[in-house]
Amino acid sequence: MRSSSFAKHLSDAGKSVWDRLPVRLRERRPVVVAGSWIHKLALRLSGRSQSESTWFLRNEPLLLTIRDVVSDNFKYSEAVRLCVVGCGSGAEIHSVLWTLRRARRDLRILPIGIDISSSAIAKAKTRTFTLEDAELAGGFLQSRREPILSEESMAELFDRDGESLRVKDWIASGVQWEIGDARDPAVLEKFVLQDVVIANNFLVHMKEQEATACLRNILQLVKPGGFFICRGVDLDIRERAARQFRLSPIQLRIEEIHGAAPDLDARRYWPWKYYGLEPLDKRRRNWVQRYASVFQVPKESQGSFRAMGKAAGAAGSKS
Ligand SMILES: C[S@@+](CC[C@H](N)C(=O)[O-])C[C@H]1O[C@@H](n2cnc3c(N)ncnc32)[C@H](O)[C@@H]1O
Repeated sequence: MRSSSFAKHLSDAGKSVWDRLPVRLRERRPVVVAGSWIHKLALRLSGRSQSESTWFLRNEPLLLTIRDVVSDNFKYSEAVRLCVVGCGSGAEIHSVLWTLRRARRDLRILPIGIDISSSAIAKAKTRTFTLEDAELAGGFLQSRREPILSEESMAELFDRDGESLRVKDWIASGVQWEIGDARDPAVLEKFVLQDVVIANNFLVHMKEQEATACLRNILQLVKPGGFFICRGVDLDIRERAARQFRLSPIQLRIEEIHGAAPDLDARRYWPWKYYGLEPLDKRRRNWVQRYASVFQVPKESQGSFRAMGKAAGAAGSKS
C-alpha cells in the first residue's frame, strides 16, 4: 500500500474515533495538543490536490472586514488597486466588489483576478452563472441544500435572463482577468504594486515548501502599507510569514471570520485531514497573529517587499 493511501486510511479511521469524543473533551488542553501533533503528521503524510471550489459570499465576516479596512484607509474618490490571486471563476472577486462598491461608490477600484486555470478564467469573464452552478449552490454547503444567497442579494448582484444570472455591470466593471501561476515570480512582477491582495483557499493545497515560496511571492505584490488577506493556508506557514515580514494582524472580526460557515465545515476535518482547520484557541499567547486572516504590511521607507526581494536576489547571485 502506498504511504499516502495508508495515511488516508489511518486518517479516516482516526477521524471517526475523534468524532465520537464529546465536544468538551476535545476542547481540553491535552487533547488540543495531541490534535496539533496529529495535524502536523497529516500535513506531512498526505498528498495534495487543488480544488476549484468557490462560491459567492463565501465568508461574509471577511468581506465586511475588507470593506471596513478599505473604507477606513482610502480617501474620497481615491484609486484602490485590488488583486485576487487564485480567483477561480470569479465568485470571490465579484463578492468583494459588490461589498466594496455598494459601501463606497466614490472609490475607483481597479480589480485584477489571476488564476492558473484557463477554464476558471474563461468562466469568470462571462460572469454568468445558473442556480445549479457550485458558485451559487455553495461548496461544502451544497449538501445541506440551503440557498447561499437571499432573494434580496440575488436581485442586487445579478441581472436575470431565464435561467442565466449575470453579475451586474456596476459590480463587475473593469476587472482585468489573467491566467497565471502565482508560484512564478515573473507572473506577478508584470503587475504594479497593489493596495489590497487576496489569496484565499489554494495555498492549503500545496506542500509546505511550495506554499511558503508562493506566499512570499504573492506578498511581493503588496504595496508598503497595503493589505494582505490570506485564508485557507496552513496556519504555521502563515504565522511564520507574518512574523518574518512583520505583518500587522487586523483583529477586527477575527473570531467570526475563523468560525464562518465554510470554516466550520473545515474544522470538522481537523486534525485528521491536511485541510482541516484548527479551532481558534485563545489560550495561545500569539493567538491574534496565528488566527488573523487580514494583515497590513509595514509602511516604512525601506521599500516594498518586491524591492527587498530583488535586492536579496542580486546579493545572492553576486556571492
Ligand atoms: C479552491 S479555489 C478558491 C477560489 C477563491 N479564491 C475562493 O476562495 O473562493 C482555488 C483556486 O486557486 C487556483 N490556483 C491553484 N493554484 C494556483 C496557482 N499556483 N496560481 C494561481 N491560481 C491557483 C485554482 O485554479 C482555483 O481556481
